[in-house]
Amino acid sequence: MYNIAIVGATGVVGKKMLEVLKTHNFPINNLKLFASEKSVGKKIHFDGKEILVDIVRENSFIDTDFVFCSADSSVSKIIGPSVRNAHSILIDDGNAFRMDSDVPLIVPEVNSQDVDWHKGIVSIPNCTTTPLVMVLHALKGFSNIDRVNVSTYQAVSGAGAQAVKELEDQIKKIASNQKPINDVFPHQIAMNVIPQVDSFEKNGYTKEEMKIVNETKKIMHDEELLISATCTRVPTIVGHCESVNVTFSDEVDLEKIILILEKQQGIIVRDKTDFNNYPTPLNSTLDDNVYVGRIRKDLSNKKGLLFWLVADNLMKGAATNAVQIAETIIERNKVSY
Ligand SMILES: NC(=O)c1ccc[n+]([C@@H]2O[C@H](COP(=O)([O-])OP(=O)(O)OC[C@H]3O[C@@H](n4cnc5c(N)ncnc54)[C@H](OP(=O)(O)O)[C@@H]3O)[C@@H](O)[C@H]2O)c1
Repeated sequence: MYNIAIVGATGVVGKKMLEVLKTHNFPINNLKLFASEKSVGKKIHFDGKEILVDIVRENSFIDTDFVFCSADSSVSKIIGPSVRNAHSILIDDGNAFRMDSDVPLIVPEVNSQDVDWHKGIVSIPNCTTTPLVMVLHALKGFSNIDRVNVSTYQAVSGAGAQAVKELEDQIKKIASNQKPINDVFPHQIAMNVIPQVDSFEKNGYTKEEMKIVNETKKIMHDEELLISATCTRVPTIVGHCESVNVTFSDEVDLEKIILILEKQQGIIVRDKTDFNNYPTPLNSTLDDNVYVGRIRKDLSNKKGLLFWLVADNLMKGAATNAVQIAETIIERNKVSY
């Protein structure tokens, strides 16, 4: 049994983390919940107990085994050293440490062995990278991957609780003929699609797009992989979608590829176009799977494949992956370091 802390327990990922810990039957001895000052004293029910939310204090992690952080990167950077000093393990949902050379970036189905070299901090990838690498990893069972080009259609919950509220408020304002207000996103998101997730880099890509590029290479141990991305925000609440174009070293064999995907743990093929059956955010969320559909040959390239995927950004994209990392650390006997 393990002592657990969740930092950011009142956010969209933190709340999902509580659900996933429960459904995974994670062996919890003691659970501490932390958030910002404004949430101190809030009561959260877990497993028949009422837990009071607190702010992180000097000795908060002294007796914890795992600290799940789903707060801003600035919070992760502050708590990282104290988690390490307490010989606890930080499993971090944010961007603070993902590309650090001494921090494993883990999707257990792809690179579980990388937890072996953790030094007290393990990161989960961005919520668009995780489902993408799961499918790319499976596709490597067909042929070497030379090139990947991905466009994303990301739900507002990927930007946190305030972003969900912003979309809901805008829909209500539009319905009552009032002018919608935008604070979280750079433009109105209701009735719109915004080709910007996070801020822009000098190379014309957004930080979110570069996260997909850099994180995919790190997780797949393939610095030479040719990959580029376009990320968009769409007015859905949960479920990130991705349209993916992969180029293999060999000519595409659709039957073989579909068999490989169907056999992969955590991937569900939903691809019956005769019945208009393919993944959408409404039919392919609220569980831990990555759904793949619209699988077809690239008409412009015999070695090219096109497909569409959907995954729940709060579950496999965040909370589930974090809990699975803790489970992997336990399985591989790496809780002590
Ligand atoms: N949303 C996703 O799909 C997703 C997916 C993968 C990774 N992530 C990452 O997960 C993290 C959380 O995202 P989210 O979407 O859950 O955001 P969110 O809904 O805005 O939640 C943020 C949480 O952080 C807490 N917090 C704020 N300041 C704090 C402080 N100084 N000390 C402790 N806690 C503090 C907030 O507490 P209050 O309620 O008291 O303000 C809240 O619980 C981010 O790093 C994000 O990049 C998110």
